[in-house]
Amino acid sequence: MTSTATLVTRSDDPSDPDWWRQAVVYQIYPRSFADSNGDGVGDLQGIISRVQYLTSLGIDAVWLSPFYPSALADGGYDVDDYRDVDPRLGTLSDFDELVAALHGAGLKLIVDIVPNHTSNLHEWFQEAVASPKGSAARDRYIFRDGTGADGNEPPSDWDSVFGGSAWAQTPDGQWYLHLFAAEQPDLNWGNAEVRDDFLTTLRFWSDRGVDGFRVDVAHALVKDLTEPLPSKSALPRQSESNGAHPLWDREGVHEIYTEWRKVLNEYDPPRSAVAEAFVPAARRARYASADGLGQAFNFDLLQADWDSGKFRAVIEENLALAEENGSSSTWVFSNHDVVRHATRYGLPTDPEGAWQDGKAWLLSNGTEPTVDVEQGLRRARAAVLLMLALPGSAYLYQGEELGLQEVGELPAASLQDPAYFRSKGAEKGRDGCRVPLPWTIGGLSFGFGSGGSHLLQPTWFGSYSVEAQEGDPSSTLSLYRKALAVRRGLQTGAGLDWIDDTEWALHFTRPGGWQSVTNFGAAPIELPEGAVVLSSSPLEGAKLPTDTTAWLI
Ligand code: NOJ
Repeated sequence: MTSTATLVTRSDDPSDPDWWRQAVVYQIYPRSFADSNGDGVGDLQGIISRVQYLTSLGIDAVWLSPFYPSALADGGYDVDDYRDVDPRLGTLSDFDELVAALHGAGLKLIVDIVPNHTSNLHEWFQEAVASPKGSAARDRYIFRDGTGADGNEPPSDWDSVFGGSAWAQTPDGQWYLHLFAAEQPDLNWGNAEVRDDFLTTLRFWSDRGVDGFRVDVAHALVKDLTEPLPSKSALPRQSESNGAHPLWDREGVHEIYTEWRKVLNEYDPPRSAVAEAFVPAARRARYASADGLGQAFNFDLLQADWDSGKFRAVIEENLALAEENGSSSTWVFSNHDVVRHATRYGLPTDPEGAWQDGKAWLLSNGTEPTVDVEQGLRRARAAVLLMLALPGSAYLYQGEELGLQEVGELPAASLQDPAYFRSKGAEKGRDGCRVPLPWTIGGLSFGFGSGGSHLLQPTWFGSYSVEAQEGDPSSTLSLYRKALAVRRGLQTGAGLDWIDDTEWALHFTRPGGWQSVTNFGAAPIELPEGAVVLSSSPLEGAKLPTDTTAWLI
């Protein structure tokens, strides 16, 4: 089967409006990347000091997770002020310096924007709590009276994504909706001031040179809170979303993005945007349309079991969807919300589908399964070569280029994730993938900074460090560098052609005769004809071993 998704040749021209279609985007979680001032927290100057490392990787763009002022109730996704930098991370002038440094190195910058909720410390929410029921200040959020004789029961029995009720009570007895932590009150997108303010924010960062935006929980902004509120047992399943759920993926959300697109298109080149929208594949296309955000994350490969049939189905479906709406596919295995894939692939297969419904936040207390580290890394290396050979853009998460494993052994007392607290420890949460990067084999905080590290690094971290891998041609870091360099020369044009060898292999060709073949099976298979340019594990003569991808031309 041939897929001909709309794609353009990758270009190094900074004014190319289509730069994002084939881009390799590297996600930086700023508090855990590099710490320039020894306070144990990564910062913007730390990133600036590592621009050379980023260019040596061969990426096209950086996506920066929130760096805004925040009390960190949810790792920065609780924003106090959308148009400033957290003083612990730097200043607006550091931000300008970062933009200049990245652009000077030929890299683009995407920033996170968090429109579904502010933090409870945002001046709007402070004003809302201090204002009376029914006030204009409360209308920016979603306030309701409680139920029960004295109004001390929440307006509905809905759960927040992190566990516990989705409603919290204010001192005067009213309740506000928070789909995530109580420190993240949901905004009312029916309010014109809210809408206008986000347009101001888009312009603020675009004017400062930002090239694109990653839109947090893009599918939640518009809600139907017509009373009586349905009970949670009557809510449609999110995975079967058809626009009927009162909270997620409602049709009206697309009007917002049409408005955003007009603003983003005022710039030259137009600013890109990618939606984080957990919706079924068929509904994702709307978020990725040209008059909407343009691109949407596809987490299907991230959630798929290590199985050639499942991978192929995901790839075919997503390439077809991208072709239909003129977008380009996104591929991702890891980010700051899920267990690192080098660890996931080393876990025993979960018959209940371990990656569904947030169970990927694994390792609940006392139930850690044994991780087969060798298998995990081997599959992770095979997976990334497969992903990088696909048409579309690839999103990498800091540390995956080191083959970094999840840190499962963080002491409970040091955990920061609200998912841990709100689930009362049932979910260990996402801190294990957010531990500061190891840059050197030894030293305090393994070269992360001159001080400590805000999440404890384990002793084994040094062996995964950049320093440990730099000169080793067989290291995962070397594999990423070689793969990105080879891809840069080959990632052109549209589509792929499948070649059916065995059912446990995925083999396809790309324009220019580039072939990628992955062996998901237990036994080695014959390599196809062609010159091998790269393989994720050593070949066995003319055979491709298990859990290995090879590229040939
Ligand atoms: C998705 C972000 O990726 C996650 O880290 C955050 O907790 C939620 N959105 C809420 O903002």
